[in-house]
Amino acid sequence: MSQTYYLTTPIYYINDVPHLGSAYTTVAADVLTRYRRLRGRDAFFLTGTDEHGLKIQRAAEERKISTTALADEVSQVFRETWPKLGCAPDDFIRTSSERHKRGAQEIWRRIAAHGDIYLGHYEGLYCVSCEGYYTEKELTQPGNLCPIHLRATERVKEESYFFRLSKYAERLLRFYQDNPKFVEPEGRMNEVKSFVSSGLQDLSISRTTFAWGVPVPGDERHVMWVWIDALSNYWTAMQDPAEHKKYWPADVHLVGKDILRFHAIFWPAFLMAAGFSDAELPRKVFAHGFLTYGGAKMSKTLRNTVSPVALAQAVSATVGVDVVRYCLMRSIAFGQDGDFSIDDVLARYGADLGNTLGNLLNRVFPFAAAVPGAASAGELEKDLADEFATISAEANQAFEDSDPTAALRAIWLLLQHANEYVDKAAPWKAKKEGDAARVDAIMSALLGLLDGVSLMIAPVMPTVSDMMRDQLGLPRLAPRVGEDRWPFAPPAQQPGRKLARGEPIFPRHDPERAAAIRKEFAPPAEPGAQTAEKPAVNEVHAAEKKADVAYDDFAKLDLRVGVIVKAERIPRKDRLLALQVDVGEGAPRSIIAGIAAAYAPEALAGTRVAVLCNLAPKSFGKGLVSHGMVLAASAGDTLKLVTVPGELGPGALIK
Ligand code: MSP
Repeated sequence: MSQTYYLTTPIYYINDVPHLGSAYTTVAADVLTRYRRLRGRDAFFLTGTDEHGLKIQRAAEERKISTTALADEVSQVFRETWPKLGCAPDDFIRTSSERHKRGAQEIWRRIAAHGDIYLGHYEGLYCVSCEGYYTEKELTQPGNLCPIHLRATERVKEESYFFRLSKYAERLLRFYQDNPKFVEPEGRMNEVKSFVSSGLQDLSISRTTFAWGVPVPGDERHVMWVWIDALSNYWTAMQDPAEHKKYWPADVHLVGKDILRFHAIFWPAFLMAAGFSDAELPRKVFAHGFLTYGGAKMSKTLRNTVSPVALAQAVSATVGVDVVRYCLMRSIAFGQDGDFSIDDVLARYGADLGNTLGNLLNRVFPFAAAVPGAASAGELEKDLADEFATISAEANQAFEDSDPTAALRAIWLLLQHANEYVDKAAPWKAKKEGDAARVDAIMSALLGLLDGVSLMIAPVMPTVSDMMRDQLGLPRLAPRVGEDRWPFAPPAQQPGRKLARGEPIFPRHDPERAAAIRKEFAPPAEPGAQTAEKPAVNEVHAAEKKADVAYDDFAKLDLRVGVIVKAERIPRKDRLLALQVDVGEGAPRSIIAGIAAAYAPEALAGTRVAVLCNLAPKSFGKGLVSHGMVLAASAGDTLKLVTVPGELGPGALIK
């Protein structure tokens, strides 16, 4: 196994502030990098900012400052935010930097030399805010409005260079075949494959309508356009300085599901065209899900009002960042969509952190001021050490599989059992009975376990790990390349080492304080959200009551959790969407659903829904057959898919 490990976040657009969504990606990347370092790998973590484009040029014009000044200002905000969330990137690449421009031009030159760039014309309806073209079908009518920003699009025709993406479909499919784990989670690989199989079109990769971009080599009327510029960052940052070269290719590009295609299709195709062999291509693209906050979508208002840094500060000035990191990684099953809320943060702060982890640490100090000398372990202690070994192996595997949620779940099960162990072992009883050897045996077991836990949680909660180790009298973790610190068994304890009881790490919030935090960080109400929902709720009460059914009849229904892999409109069938739904059978099923009025197909991939699997197949004509039905709740004009929260994967039974 190579010693190096190179992980990236997307580079963030500078027309936005760092918010909970971008924090989620960055924190996850930091956690996965810290885990690799703990295992002794020479890990490199890259993030940065994606600065070019018309939107930025216009924003700078509006503010009457230069584009460079605007880019410097906003990029700096990103650079300063990540350390405040405990993230320690090794490099920060800016697309406006000279080193990036040089690298991006080099990639362009190599592709052009290969004959895969040609000059043509691009015409389309363009949304300045998305920096993207839309087809009329995709726009909100009347008025050709952008479906995301609800503002008018502009018809733009311009000379453009194109990349021969269509030429690479076959090689990409072969590459996916040879590297079945190139995209994770698994369902997302199928999504990418079926997109490529359905045919790729050449890609417009330059613009002449604005100047704020990387000049196209040999034709300075053009600047590179969006993805060829942005994606190149992962390579350009590894060329300069030269010491970075050893990290290429990336082990993981961590991205949100919204930009998976660009990373899993465009990026390897660009590299193939630039002459990279399959072995020199990135090893994995991991797509995480989307975050809502307190049930609300990450709207512009929310992004501006709920700052992850302010939230962390409010929860705890000392370890708030770790609490937010813990909750982001724990509450949303990594890879799936999920909700993050202030209620969840406060609840986990009290229960998981205060009552479980903090409590276990505090149970040592009444019985030990230093690590006891040799003590003979009884049955209970042996069981605890066995459980430690099983769970630490499980947590390690989960981190290996980019599943910090599962790793934390396992570690917290161990902590819960360790608390139960102390209840059973009852050191206070042994102390009262004057059985010092027994007290020592219990404390030895507990100290070994806490030492191990402080290491296992370090990727997610580095500050808490440091504070625990301070109190346990242990040196803080300082990972070194080649030194694997993962505790597959409880680490041996040096007798006589002094403990240093400190302040509680997670002091309880009094109810007033908790209420104040809750109020301050409640999701902002979106105008109109309430009124839209109300009539629907009232109509539910008027729904017709149906006759009772026997349980045996109900049990005949094969209801399962399904993950929507792909959703598409159907020409001339306005109400219907054609879905590909993974219900745990290996290949996804085709299901036709009458939900087009309520859902845009782009928003559905990754949604976990309830599916009736044994409904007799139904034909919708023209070869369209539905193999099952997705369940939805409806009242009046409102229709909502029945979605499944939590961590259950496709195929889980609903009963
Ligand atoms: N600049 C491009 C990426 C270029 S990478 C070569 C871009 N930038 S972005 O700032 O709009 O978004 C970056 C990432 O932020 C998304 O991929 C996604 O990971 C993350 N998120 C933004 N909102 C999010 C949520 N609500 N939830 C989770 N992640 C979200 O796209």
